[in-house]
Amino acid sequence: MEKKVAPIENTTFKNIVSHAKEYGFVFPSSEIYDGLAAVYDYGQNGVELKNNLKNVWWKAMTQLHENVVGIDAAIFMHPTTWKASGHVDGFSDPMIDNKDSKKRYRADVLIEEHAAKYEAEGNLEKATTLVQQMARMLEKEDLKGVQELIISEKITCPVSGTANWTDVRQFNLMFSTQVGSVAEESNTIYLRPETAQGIFVNFLNVQKSGRMKIPFGIAQIGKAFRNEIVARQFTFRMREFEQMEMQFFIRPGEEKQWYETWKNTRMKWHKAIGLPERHLKFHDHEKLAHYANAAVDIEYQFPFGFKEIEGIHSRTDFDLGSHEKYSKKKQQYFDTEINKNYVPYVVETSVGADRVFLAILCNAYTEEITGEGEEQKQRTYLKFHPALAPVKAAILPITKKDGLPELARTIFEDLRYDMNVVYEERDSIGKRYTRQDLIGTPFCIAVDHDSLIDNCVTIRHRDTTIQERVKISDLKEILTQAVSVKRILELL
Ligand code: GAP
Repeated sequence: MEKKVAPIENTTFKNIVSHAKEYGFVFPSSEIYDGLAAVYDYGQNGVELKNNLKNVWWKAMTQLHENVVGIDAAIFMHPTTWKASGHVDGFSDPMIDNKDSKKRYRADVLIEEHAAKYEAEGNLEKATTLVQQMARMLEKEDLKGVQELIISEKITCPVSGTANWTDVRQFNLMFSTQVGSVAEESNTIYLRPETAQGIFVNFLNVQKSGRMKIPFGIAQIGKAFRNEIVARQFTFRMREFEQMEMQFFIRPGEEKQWYETWKNTRMKWHKAIGLPERHLKFHDHEKLAHYANAAVDIEYQFPFGFKEIEGIHSRTDFDLGSHEKYSKKKQQYFDTEINKNYVPYVVETSVGADRVFLAILCNAYTEEITGEGEEQKQRTYLKFHPALAPVKAAILPITKKDGLPELARTIFEDLRYDMNVVYEERDSIGKRYTRQDLIGTPFCIAVDHDSLIDNCVTIRHRDTTIQERVKISDLKEILTQAVSVKRILELL
């Protein structure tokens, strides 16, 4: 039978978002109160997929690198941390309001989207010049210039259609709250906008307690919070999200080499988890963050275009140097090989767990048409790598009688300690296969009457629907091999 697979470009993002909700991957937060903008909850399948992704990142960064260790720092930090890191003064987006629609936009996003239109029309030079012009203005904090650029380019508000703009103003993205009961300014603390600072302030703790020698890295997975004004595209831009970050501490002068090494290592990881090479690319930053002297994004081609999923930044000695200044405590390392004390330089890799989750979901979503004319059928399934799939196998007796449930239960009990498996006996076997396809279960194990005689079961493979008869005694080994994280890690 001929198979036609809808390519990602033809798949509407709307289908993916509603699939995510209908099959327990992602729900809008506090939905019974009409939700909270740019905040989402992960459902029963979403949390399994996200945990699997975090696990693959953690193992790739720590287990596979002898010189990288992990930590788990608190979300709340001393407020001076954010003064030292530059976030109090510099972590803001340039915002502009349209006076007619009263809608607020990020000025740089308006200009970048306008430049993308020039690019789509084949005018790459004009697009590049515009983005570079904007970057120079933002660098110099020339907000008046940015506003004039928006006006001279005749950029209009997508809602009102007018160019009746306010001035451009900087808007800090950090959420603040109070510690203790007295609402004084000195008690104001922030929800961390990046996990990285928890690593910087623990640099010496880890280095000393672990007797670490430079070069070495510290990895961390945790929540971060940003008061994003332009919250769109589902879990792509959230106000509460999760980062997987690693700071790699190096000798000054070696940053170029380590920057290149980590760029390539991280790109390899995205390919290994199953994102196709043609949907991934590097994008060098035009406008550098306040802490970086080189920065690149790894972008994935979502149905709404190529967008950042990870940033790799050469952060120099900015953070440790600044913490040394503000805390008045030395943040230095004595390098016995060169007999010298110095503040280490840092190359950072920073990937959003939610963005990788979304990329993996978009990539896995497959609508397939089989057959011709009246025989034509559509099948929707999620083509996750078996090591990432929320459920690894479903154990399905083909009837509810004749001792089949008992045998199927024995198989289920034998597997459940090693992997996430489900047992199901409701509805026809076809319907049960469909339900598992929709959540991306790679293997369905059918237990039939012959199983009682030949001690074999049928494995049905999700992507091909091919069925294969195997001995029950071999089943655990076959599945363990197929769903092992090692299959991803050995590609790195
Ligand atoms: N420590 C460096 C840092 O935070 P960043 O480029 O601002 O750098 C790193 O963020 C990654 O965090 C991004 O590549 C993205 O995957 C994720 N991220 C940032 N803001 C996000 C948001 N509002 N929602 C979801 N993920 C976000």
